[in-house]
Amino acid sequence: MIYVTRREVFSSSHRLFNPNFSNEENDRLFGKCNNLNGHGHNYILEVIVAGEVDSQTGYVIDLKVLKEIIKKNVISKVDHKNLNLDVDFLKGKIPTAENIAIGIWDQLIDKLPSGKLYSIKLYETENNYVEYKGKAIN
Ligand code: NI
Repeated sequence: MIYVTRREVFSSSHRLFNPNFSNEENDRLFGKCNNLNGHGHNYILEVIVAGEVDSQTGYVIDLKVLKEIIKKNVISKVDHKNLNLDVDFLKGKIPTAENIAIGIWDQLIDKLPSGKLYSIKLYETENNYVEYKGKAIN
């Protein structure tokens, strides 16, 4: 098994709040991230695909193809957007790094022509990132 990674960057705004909670509760839970008019991040996304090397091409997946799939299904939907309002796959979700990573996984899972989606890594800041590897199998 070999792992291939494509890295992309995008910039988005968001506000973390739960409409079911009071202002005070949201403030306590989300602090500065609950700022009424939002705030922004420069996100770094890593999409990791696992597979075997194809004997004809030498690739697990053609990275030019993977790049286009990520651009079409993810970057075009989130870059320079408001994650609370503009993104179909985040509707009804609090746009934390966790929920964004799961949403990105769901966008890509059935789109790869070869290899298998292994992991979505999403860096929200230099020091904070999440990694999603799909639903746990019981
Ligand atoms: Ni934030």
